[in-house]
Amino acid sequence: MSVLFTPLKIGALEIKNRFVHSGTYECMADENGFVTDQLLTRYRNLSHGEIALIIPGYLNVHPLGRATPHQTCIDSDDKIPGLARLVDAIHEGGARACLQLAHAGRQTRKAYIGQTPMAPSSVGRDPMYLVKPRAMTEAEIYEAIEAYGKAAGRAVRAGADAIHISAGAGYLPNQFLSPYLNQRKDQWGGSNENRFRFVREIVDAARLQMPNGMPLIMKLNAVDYTPREGVTPDLARQYAKWLSEMGVDALEITTGTTVYSNMHMWRGEVPVPEFIRPLPLWQKPLAWLVLKGMVGKFDFEEMWNLKYARYIKPVLGNTKLGLVGGNRRVAQMEKLIESGDADAIFMCRPFIREPFLVKMIKEGKTKQAACISCNRCVGALVNDLPLRCYVNGLPPKKGRRLKVEGRRLKIEG
Ligand SMILES: Cc1cc2nc3c(=O)[nH]c(=O)nc-3n(C[C@H](O)[C@H](O)[C@H](O)COP(=O)(O)O)c2cc1C
Repeated sequence: MSVLFTPLKIGALEIKNRFVHSGTYECMADENGFVTDQLLTRYRNLSHGEIALIIPGYLNVHPLGRATPHQTCIDSDDKIPGLARLVDAIHEGGARACLQLAHAGRQTRKAYIGQTPMAPSSVGRDPMYLVKPRAMTEAEIYEAIEAYGKAAGRAVRAGADAIHISAGAGYLPNQFLSPYLNQRKDQWGGSNENRFRFVREIVDAARLQMPNGMPLIMKLNAVDYTPREGVTPDLARQYAKWLSEMGVDALEITTGTTVYSNMHMWRGEVPVPEFIRPLPLWQKPLAWLVLKGMVGKFDFEEMWNLKYARYIKPVLGNTKLGLVGGNRRVAQMEKLIESGDADAIFMCRPFIREPFLVKMIKEGKTKQAACISCNRCVGALVNDLPLRCYVNGLPPKKGRRLKVEGRRLKIEG
């Protein structure tokens, strides 16, 4: 039997094989962040595909931490019944459910949260949302920590088997960990220990709400790729060591931030037309130039985070390591687990295209994921369309469009 189908123990939880569905934003919640039938259908379907552990999209823990209008939220108790249905849907076909807690910090827009987004420090203006955040007060920092704790409690009450906290991808914990995005001079910044304090506090707050043995998994950036140096592999190694010493059960190593460097998170094609489509007319020419300049610079690389995983793994002690990013060929995945460089295979885009990929691998029907990393799925989300594989293109935009017909401009729709 392939090593990929041997069980893995994370904390006190045993999962049936090495495949994990990594956090994948679906754009399927209603405007108030409640779980919808569309979301349940997606996870019910995935649950029958032999994936051992399923992490749905990032759940927002605080109203000011909301990243998008159709993000699922875990920021109030009235969300628990819907989240319980989500967990049930994942359990239906025999998968285990892990809920991911997140706070956008600066990676959101005033339009989504009703005020200027907040961050550890008011530095930089990101190229995606053009946001210059305001610095959080101490009271707001404690409120955010409390929000993580309460959200963990809600995840437990919803029946989750594990909890995941994203301290990567540029979200609020990542912002605290970064020497660039966090330039505070108080107890929350200025040294590695101080920059780590926020993450330490949210892990402690979550643990207080979790039963003994329930796994806590975290996503950690090995490199941020921000305009000035943020988290680096050396820093990530230090943070990973501290997380392991704190008893975090597994780490998922990634790279890139959503608003400064998202193509590092999902290497492959730059979906230029899809990214430009939702922008106001005045932004389109400049955005087109910038995006065109990015084409070819983020080509897909199989297992592109492996070098960082190898660097970090020796300090991890009993903490398991999950590799995410470009896991595509079954033979390479087997080698990865056999070599001990990682314990679990985390995948995102392959499951968007093939929800039954693991079942097909198990039955010997495929040796490679069909996903071509065209990133139109990401382009669809940017256009507020629900998640699915859009390899054949996005549906036409509703509403009035300008079309050139011969020498005449025509308004359609
Ligand atoms: C459409 C899409 C949505 C994503 N949403 C999340 C998310 O909600 N939480 C998260 O931690 N990562 C998210 N990611 C990042 C993935 O979990 C993963 O790290 C990345 O796509 C690289 O893995 P892959 O090559 O298997 O796609 C998302 C990626 C994509 C493409």
